[in-house]
Amino acid sequence: TTAQKLSFDVQLSDHARTAAERERVMESPGFGQVFTDHMISIDYTEGEGWHDARLMPYGPLALDPATSVFHYAQELFEGLKAYRQPGSDAIVSFRPYANAARFNSSARRMAMPELPEETFVESLELLVQTDREWVPTTEGHSLYLRPFMIATQPALGVNYPSKSYKYMVIASPAAAYFGASKAVSVWLSTEYTRAAPGGTGFAKCGGNYAAAFVAQRQAVENGCDQVVWLDANEHRHVEEMGGMNLFFVYGDRLLTPALTGTLLPGITRDSILALAGSLGLTAEEGRISIEEWQEGCASGELTEVFACGTAAVVTPVGSVKGADRAWTIGDGTPGPVTQRIRSELTGIQYGTRPDPHNWVHKI
Ligand code: PLP
Ligand code: COI
Repeated sequence: TTAQKLSFDVQLSDHARTAAERERVMESPGFGQVFTDHMISIDYTEGEGWHDARLMPYGPLALDPATSVFHYAQELFEGLKAYRQPGSDAIVSFRPYANAARFNSSARRMAMPELPEETFVESLELLVQTDREWVPTTEGHSLYLRPFMIATQPALGVNYPSKSYKYMVIASPAAAYFGASKAVSVWLSTEYTRAAPGGTGFAKCGGNYAAAFVAQRQAVENGCDQVVWLDANEHRHVEEMGGMNLFFVYGDRLLTPALTGTLLPGITRDSILALAGSLGLTAEEGRISIEEWQEGCASGELTEVFACGTAAVVTPVGSVKGADRAWTIGDGTPGPVTQRIRSELTGIQYGTRPDPHNWVHKI
């Protein structure tokens, strides 16, 4: 990476959508279906470093069919949101430097170049400022930001990684990924493995998600909303979900699977660990087997389970199913600890609660 500061060339769209067109999208944005008028692109060439930083009209890319990302999936991405705070009309993001650091951690694992954290954050700010009218005003909605990087060398050799890369950011107005109040059902994946020790589980690379679709489809076929991944060796210990980390609630004690290298270090997860104390909860990282999960629910000691992530925010889990077992968590409805954590976290993001950790980043 180069130390010199990049300056962005700005090319505004001649085809930006009208306020009426925007309003129509934002009435019911769904998740990741419609994108704003602009995007960011920065190129990397070995020997030269990062160059050609641009804000440009949103649109398709033209790439040689031999481009290495199409063949070997040398790719990674991030996900975070911009929020419009009611009252002040300020637009903020949440812990963007944590996403920048995770982006670079993924880059190291994928033999890709690191992007200076300042450039990562600056690219988000420039896109959100340009497309600020796309940040929803509806409570609970936000602008989802998707930075990503692909290998662009048109060559099929696998003796060395690509010598060129493209970093991009696109943005999409988003509603809650799951309805806020309903508990989801989960499927225990004992057939498929997401990540093994030494693999790419901790990195946010596309291949992890490509390999997960078959299990997610199996979850849906079994009447469940989401797949729960278990450890690769025994298919016994809980790791995470397809796009979320998991927390187990024992009264006023929280337990979340430790970061063993096979699960994504979620920024929502980290934030909840940091907030627990101020909510009168204790929090620990550890290990939980599916038997302990089932027995905890049967005895009543394990009172709630929730999933957390940028897209999912904090989502209650109500029931569990596996090839040879099925059970309900509590009475299967959202529990009070889950709801308290959700409202504390979203309160910080939307500026209706104090932000003691300085997580909110003004744009
Ligand atoms: N686990 C996986 C596999 C994910 O894709 C995500 C989403 O980004 C998470 C966990 C949660 O991470 P974060 O809280 O940083 O969004
Ligand atoms: C996110 O929460 O940002 C994710 O990446 C989850 C999923 C949409 C992949």
